[in-house]
Amino acid sequence: MARAHNFSAGPAVLPLSVVEQLQEALPEFRDTRLGLMELSHRSAAFGEVIASARERLKRLLAVPEGYEVLFLQGGASLQFYMSALNLTAPGEAADYVLTGSWTKKALKEAARACDAKAIWDGGETGWKRVPRPGEYAPRDEAVYVYYTSNNTIFGTRWAEPPAVGEHHLVCDASSDICWGPMDVARHDVIFAGAQKNLGPSGVTAVILSPWAVERSRTAGQSRPGGLPSMLDYGLMVDKGSMFNTPNTFGVFALERVLAWLEDLGGLAVMAERNREKAALLYDELDRTDFWRPHAERDSRSLMNVTWRCADPELEPVFVKEADAAGLVALKGHRSVGGLRASIYNACPRESVEALVDFMRDFERRHG
Ligand SMILES: Cc1ncc(COP(=O)(O)O)c(C=O)c1O
Repeated sequence: MARAHNFSAGPAVLPLSVVEQLQEALPEFRDTRLGLMELSHRSAAFGEVIASARERLKRLLAVPEGYEVLFLQGGASLQFYMSALNLTAPGEAADYVLTGSWTKKALKEAARACDAKAIWDGGETGWKRVPRPGEYAPRDEAVYVYYTSNNTIFGTRWAEPPAVGEHHLVCDASSDICWGPMDVARHDVIFAGAQKNLGPSGVTAVILSPWAVERSRTAGQSRPGGLPSMLDYGLMVDKGSMFNTPNTFGVFALERVLAWLEDLGGLAVMAERNREKAALLYDELDRTDFWRPHAERDSRSLMNVTWRCADPELEPVFVKEADAAGLVALKGHRSVGGLRASIYNACPRESVEALVDFMRDFERRHG
């Protein structure tokens, strides 16, 4: 059976060349005479893999000197709590810009660790956009401001990081990390579940500034009893992400995805491709009243394109017919309905072209 055009929000499409390398590594990994998943994480061979993954991510994102890169488990959802727990002492303030479901979940978890507060709530404008400068103001005492660079469910994104003056910045970049270049130096914590743009589920990339590591060792450790080992950024840094057994398969897959990105020319090239792919789809959505794009223009995501049919009753028909035509996973998130095409880095332009062709045909038949 042929591989379908995959528009899944995550786990999501991987480069076929990477999937083939995984397949090859399973029975016998390089010259180890052991299979990839049967190899000790303390082996020299795996040590090379995790070091290479770290170096590649640093090169691709131009991570500043002194920053740390970790590969942890527990998903982005664990980082909701872990970031707050490490960066604050009990009772300290942290401010959250709510642009969708994932920021709301992050706020809820952070509130267990500190005085976490929403300073803007996109629910009041239907989650159609991110805020404009001047619509939100961090509290003076806030230790950091938290945002989600790309909102997977609603299909919105920040074109630039929030303007928060001298405040430290924490970013959930799960659904757009490595979509293109990013100003890492402006951030103190960036985390991302790998299962959209970086590889399989089960690995979370975490980038920490020297300040963030220092806060973990001071504010975080000042908590009664100190930080639990598995939630301790400082310890994870000291142990090179190997305090306990990492997801060896996932880290290898991620390293191969990063190699694929470097081989094709890096993030500037990727950004160009992503802009072109997204433009194909948004042009189609803007072409006719048959479609109703969800996000306001200046907040449109390049990774998750969300829309409705003018006649919502046609949406399940669209999803079903698209699936039969080899275009899979176009149903909107269960919490919002509608339609969504996730067109991450590994989603080829041909898949987007096939989707646009299908949309035109669908309109002809149902319009
Ligand atoms: C922006 C964003 N943050 C966090 C998450 C949660 O990630 P995880 O399932 O890795 O905990 C997701 C998952 O889709 C997401 O899109």
